[in-house]
Amino acid sequence: MKKRLIVGITGATGAVYGIHLLEVLKGLKDWESHLVLTDAGVLNLWHELKMRRKDAERLADVAYHPKDIAATLASGSFLTEGMVIAPCSMKTLAAVAHAHADDLVSRAADVVLKERRRLVLMPRETPLNLAHLRNMVAVSEMGAIVFPPVPAFYAAPKSLDDLVAHSVARVLDLFGVHSAKLKRWQGLKGIPAERG
Ligand SMILES: Cc1cc2nc3c(=O)[nH]c(=O)nc-3n(C[C@H](O)[C@H](O)[C@H](O)COP(=O)(O)O)c2cc1C
Repeated sequence: MKKRLIVGITGATGAVYGIHLLEVLKGLKDWESHLVLTDAGVLNLWHELKMRRKDAERLADVAYHPKDIAATLASGSFLTEGMVIAPCSMKTLAAVAHAHADDLVSRAADVVLKERRRLVLMPRETPLNLAHLRNMVAVSEMGAIVFPPVPAFYAAPKSLDDLVAHSVARVLDLFGVHSAKLKRWQGLKGIPAERG
């Protein structure tokens, strides 16, 4: 059986993170992607990438409507390796933090947490208010990994695609998927003798 990864795409800016994740998963023969795209996610998908719901869903092995609360993902008996929410809005972060599972993204995340599977959130907001920060602490205490899509400049990105690919590859590292293309830190080269 292929390994299943649930991908949630919500209405925070940065739809490209979820889309790139789906594209990478498409190229991995041992994995299949299960997508839930929220209605607000559709707005950003159009605004940022000129993609429609069906364009994103075509990239996934299986796609679900966010209101389909009876879908397989809503039960822990459906086996998955876990879930990535990329990008994760503050609204969905709050829902996950408080087990307010009123759509399939928050319910699937709730299931992943209760089954002690891996949940990675890529929250996108700035600046952060106290509720955002507290919700990040709450999900971390429950075992989720908070992975804000903050660029790693040590990897010397040349383009936005580089930035996105680096973050997505680091997220997949957390699921044991290690990309040969990821520029990993090799230590400082040619350090000046004087460090000031
Ligand atoms: C263009 C646009 C950009 C947005 N960017 C963000 C964002 O970066 N972070 C965030 O938390 N919410 C953002 N929002 C607001 C969310 O889309 C909104 O809270 C929505 O209810 C989230 O619902 P969802 O989590 O079900 O997708 C944005 C909304 C729009 C229309």
